[in-house]
Parts: sequence; C-alpha cells; structure tokens
Amino acid sequence: MVGITETVLRDGHQSLIATRMRTRDMLPAAERLDAIGYRSLEVWGGATFDVCLRFLREDPWERLRLLKRAMPRTPLQMLLRGQNLVGYRHYADDLVRKFVAESARQGIDIFRVFDALNDPRNMEVALAAVKKSGARAQATICYTQSPVHTLEAFVQLGHRLAEMGADELCVKDMAGFLPPAEGASLVRALRTEVGLPVVVHTHSASGMSTLTCLAVAEAGATAVDAALSPFAGGASQPPTETLVGAMRGTSLDPKLPLDALGDLAAYFGTVMDRYRPLLNLRSLQTDPGILTHQIPGGMLSNLLSQLAEQDAFDRLAEVLVEVPRVRADLGYPPLVTPTSQIVGIQAVINVLTGARYRQVTQEVRDYVRGLYGTPPAPIDPELYRTVTASSPAITGRPADLLAPEMTKAIAEVRALVPAADEAEALSYALFPAVYRSYRSAVDRGLTVDVLTAAALGVVGALRTAPAPPAGPASSMEGLGRMSPWAHEGRARLHSQRRWVDATARRTRR
Ligand code: CO
Repeated sequence: MVGITETVLRDGHQSLIATRMRTRDMLPAAERLDAIGYRSLEVWGGATFDVCLRFLREDPWERLRLLKRAMPRTPLQMLLRGQNLVGYRHYADDLVRKFVAESARQGIDIFRVFDALNDPRNMEVALAAVKKSGARAQATICYTQSPVHTLEAFVQLGHRLAEMGADELCVKDMAGFLPPAEGASLVRALRTEVGLPVVVHTHSASGMSTLTCLAVAEAGATAVDAALSPFAGGASQPPTETLVGAMRGTSLDPKLPLDALGDLAAYFGTVMDRYRPLLNLRSLQTDPGILTHQIPGGMLSNLLSQLAEQDAFDRLAEVLVEVPRVRADLGYPPLVTPTSQIVGIQAVINVLTGARYRQVTQEVRDYVRGLYGTPPAPIDPELYRTVTASSPAITGRPADLLAPEMTKAIAEVRALVPAADEAEALSYALFPAVYRSYRSAVDRGLTVDVLTAAALGVVGALRTAPAPPAGPASSMEGLGRMSPWAHEGRARLHSQRRWVDATARRTRR
C-alpha cells in the first residue's frame, strides 16, 4: 500500500494560481478532506506564508489554526526551506528554532525540510528543532541531474540526513524530470541502504510524473504527492484520483474512496472557477522541453522576459547554451529558487556583454563566497579566484555569521502591536515590511471580505434610489483608539490562542 499526501491546499494552488487560494475557500472542504484517509495534507510553507500576508491580507497562523481545528485527524504537513524557513534569506538559528516550535504547537505534524544546494548544514538546525518539537522530520533530497549527482551521492546525502535525525526522507523533483526507472532505483537504494521510509514529490511539467509515481510506488516508496484533479497537472502534481484509480486492486492500492475524492474534486472545480483569471494556460500544458535543455519551466519564462526587456529575444539560443555552462562553473547547483535566478541572470549577462564574467552579479559573488552553502561540486577555479580576490570566501556554515534576531523582532513588533504574541513576532521577523503593511491594512479593516463587501455596497447603492437618512452614530468611543476591525481581529485571535493552548498536548499520529 502506498500513502498519498494531498497538495491541493499548498503546492497545487501555488503551482497553478500563484498561491492565491483563500482560507475561506479551503474550510468548506476541510471535514471531507479529513475523512479521506490521506497520509498527510500539505497545507503550509513554501510561498503560502508570504502570499497570505502580502496579497491576501490573511494571517498565515490563523489559517493554520483554522485548518487544524477543522482537520484534527489527518497529519498536517508543511514545506520548510531549511535555514530560509518560509522566506528568501538565511535566518539566525534562534529564529529557526522558534519558528519550528511555534509551527508545531499551532498544528504542523510533519515538516518537509530542504535546502536548494542539498547542503545538510543548512538543514541541521531546523531538523533538530523539529525533533525537539515532537513532530515528524522529513528530510529532503532535491533531485537534479549532473555529473556529480549520482545515485551514490544521493544515498550518501540520505545517510547524512539520517544521522541528523530524519524520521523519513523525501525525494523532491521540483523541476518535474525524474524518469520512472531512475526514480525507482533511487527509492530502492535509499530504502535498502539508509533504511528510512521514502516519499516522492514530483511536478507534472514534463508529463512523466504519473508514470514516475507508479514506478516509485512499485519500488517501495511509502507515499507520493498528488493534487485533486482541478489543481493537478502541468506545473502542479499528478491527479490524486488518477493515481488512486490506477493502483486500485493492486498491492499498492492507497485505499482511498474514489467517490468521495470525486465529490471533493467537484468542490475544488468550483474553487478553481473563481480563480480562473489567475490561471495561465501555459502552466497547465505539458512541456517536455526540460528533458533536452534541462531548464525548468519557471526559469525559462524568466529568461524569456529578461531577454524581452533587453530587446534581445534573438539571443535565446545562445543563452540556452550558456545556462548549463554557468551552472557547471558554479558547481552544478540544482536549479530551484534561488539558484535558478542566480544562474539565469548571470547567463543572460554573459551573453549580452559578450565576455563571460566581465560583469558578475552580487548574487553570484555571494554564492561563490559560500554564503548560500557549499555547492555540490567545486566552483570554476578562475571564477573563484576573481571573486574571492576582493572579498574572501567563508568556510563555515553561513548562518554562523548571523546574530540572534528574535529579541529584536519582539521589541519591534510590540512597538507596532503591543499585545503581539510570538507567532506575530515571527511573521514580523520574517517579512518586516510586508508585515507592517499587512498590519496597517488589516487594522483599518481593509481585508478582502471588506473590500468585496464595499464594492458590492457601492454597486447596490448605485442601483437604488436616493440614500436613506443616516442612522444613529455607532458607539465606538468605548473602544479607545482601536478601530472596530482591529478589535474584532484581536478578539478572534484570543479565542484561537485559548484553543491552541488547550489542545497543545494532543497526541500526534
Ligand atoms: Co513542489
């Protein structure tokens, strides 16, 4: 039997509609999702945290609490970018520990921890914090292809992650080009040599993922990731119902009820209809191009827009040749955020300036100096010499250079919101500017619901006869300087905090 991790509430909508699904569109399905019998539900992490605050004006912690309350039975899972947490830079260790502890307390049961360079030192603090919290530590191997990414190297990394306390391993095929046979040998090798359960995460971009999921399941994978069909395919995961149907009656049967999945798919179909304007048709199409040029879809579209900006569209062929050369010079990093941007921009510069590395971006300099971690293979000696001549490389773990951040963050957020708790301090510490604008928008009542209601109100008013006389003034004086929106938000938060505290000692599955 193979387990299914459902991604519709995280990677599914992150891949197809830029992470814009709102909590209120998730909650009506929560009870049914919880009853399916999934191995886990991925609900948090990746871009959800940032997008909640920045665009949806939702509190990501509130989403987690609401989902946990609505889905108490199925383990909830999050994606954590190692020392980058859910952000885009390395954070200090005290912040990493606090973030993991608070996420576990508020409802995360499984942490999938990865690092873009597969550098274990960027995962070790997070993994130790997960173990301490009592949640399950799923340590991740980012899959890529290069002369140094051999089966032996992946197994060696697996051993290292096991030593660091991993409860299980994840093979993460973020670019969607893990071939079925290679996936099967990788899973088999990790199962027999490292001995931990292995789960496999794929994307459907090249069209191979459904085949790969079946092959790795046959090879002994404990679970695979899938998304309910309205949020599956293309840039997202393979469809849950298809995998369940394909394995039904075999020894791999995930034993999930197809009719109930169909019912959920119908619901998420209506959700997708609401977000249809955000769906770029290209992200749903199968693009096997990566099998030849090895450039992930998202990175290719970035390259195209950079070239378009420079009015240099005709240089695309040269850039496609230069990308793998830059990647080789940089020691074959897996191409995933942020390395895909670092490599892509430098490749475009190398082509447009006509001289390789005459101009070197700050990101490449930092990368060469070791500020992102240790690359899988040595960096080109000449590039290394040029960059480190002006600023020396570091040899230790990048986060060792960072001073503790939490105390400062708490002081700063309390100047903004006197009653801020640790979760809010963490939101602030991760994204200070975004949190400030989120806070002021929410305290003024400018949530999505309010803006929608206001728009509907205006439309209604325009349609009706002259406005009625003004009613009695509302009695807001008693609330001091706090707006009713802020007051309502605090009241809701306090009730949720009480619930989290009361259930904090629940047993984990
Ligand atoms: Co993914």
